[in-house]
Amino acid sequence: MQAKRIQGMEDLFGSAMHEWQSMKTLAHNLFSTYGFTEIETPALEQVDTFVHGIGQSSDVVRKEMFRVFSGGLLERVFEQGNETGLKAKQRMALRPEGTAGVVRSVVENTLVYPGSSPVKLWYAQPMFRGERPQKGRLRQFHQIGVEFIGTSDARSDAEVILMALEFFLKLGFKKSDLVLRINSMGDTTCRPAYRDKVRSFVLEHKDEMCADCLERAEINPLRTFDCKNAHCKEVMSEAPLVSDNLCEDCSEHYKQVKSYLDAMQVSYVEDPTLVRGLDYYTRTVFEIECPNAGVGALGGGGRYDGLVELCGGKPTPAVGFALGYERIMLAMNALGIEQHDTDDKLIYLACVDASLEPVVFELAQSLREQSLCVEYDYQGRSLKSQFKQADKLQARTCVVVGPDELERGEVLVRDMQTHEQMCVKLENLGQALLGD
Ligand code: HAM
Repeated sequence: MQAKRIQGMEDLFGSAMHEWQSMKTLAHNLFSTYGFTEIETPALEQVDTFVHGIGQSSDVVRKEMFRVFSGGLLERVFEQGNETGLKAKQRMALRPEGTAGVVRSVVENTLVYPGSSPVKLWYAQPMFRGERPQKGRLRQFHQIGVEFIGTSDARSDAEVILMALEFFLKLGFKKSDLVLRINSMGDTTCRPAYRDKVRSFVLEHKDEMCADCLERAEINPLRTFDCKNAHCKEVMSEAPLVSDNLCEDCSEHYKQVKSYLDAMQVSYVEDPTLVRGLDYYTRTVFEIECPNAGVGALGGGGRYDGLVELCGGKPTPAVGFALGYERIMLAMNALGIEQHDTDDKLIYLACVDASLEPVVFELAQSLREQSLCVEYDYQGRSLKSQFKQADKLQARTCVVVGPDELERGEVLVRDMQTHEQMCVKLENLGQALLGD
């Protein structure tokens, strides 16, 4: 039997791995200018971390979590037909998103406490959702995200939005490729009454709505705004809007966020039907789309002022976002955006004669000891093929090891971009290449 990967889970290697690595480097460089440091949390968490965090009524928790039981427990669950009797720590799931785990870690490690400065964290990790695989929708995908925990200052909302947009611009997107949609979802003061209004509206129109919307009306009425059914959409276009139902504080906060975005000349579309799929959001929510890519939102986020407390911490406001690596790559391919980052550090050692292979081997080792990235041919290719290989690998420099030069204690160093070449003494080679 040939082993096969699971549908919707992809191997990451070659150029895809290179692109993922350079996106992480970009995240590190950009987010550190805003004072963010990296965090890595476990891929497995207790189910309750997600249930409390993301919310019992979200599709992610209800339908999409990959549950994990270690050996003996799995048999017990099979035998019993349910997981009653399992301790909280025995009920585990692969993380479907990053925020809940990061908040769990922040609380457990007391990374923020009343009176402390906010903690600013970023992550780049695989996430797992049991979805039906399709373009831009995988079961294992990668997110780059940030969580800014410990302040409700509207500048932090504006800053994370600016960081996300800057990330896209640095990748090569143009401002005109992107649409930023924003909304405020209210808070515990104004949202419950608004949810009830939406529920009543849906129930008043129950004969016109799909079965899913009627279920949503009971569990999470605001999700009815997300229904893809054309008729439900039409009905919902008449539904009460959150913007007309915000309390004074939420309204003021939203106004401030917009004023900071305006001050930075950021264009955005206010979308009062933007509700997001995770239950923890309060106030600001946003999504970034690339309409010409046809892959759905490239990223999204928002404020989640109640989550830290739900995870056992003191009341602590927070805001963040996550961007989907695979969707970003699909969008870049659709728009013909190339990642600029070529492997411009690579040195290729070309061997003129097979008898010199041991010399190439030793030279490669000595250059690598000087932290240079070195590649050479292992297949006895002709010199012409070796040059082609160096081009393919996007090497910056090709060092040609030939018998005549070696006799003089030299090698030929060729710049792969300008094609200029010169002889360099072996004892000076490392220095010459490092100095380039
Ligand atoms: P989310 O909107 O569920 O938010 O996911 C963020 C991004 O991850 C999406 O915009 C999309 O690009 C990508 N994504 C989501 N699901 C899939 C999938 N099945 N296949 C491929 N890509 C996917 C969150 O996860 C929140 N934790 C964001 C956040 C951080 N909010 C506050 N802090």
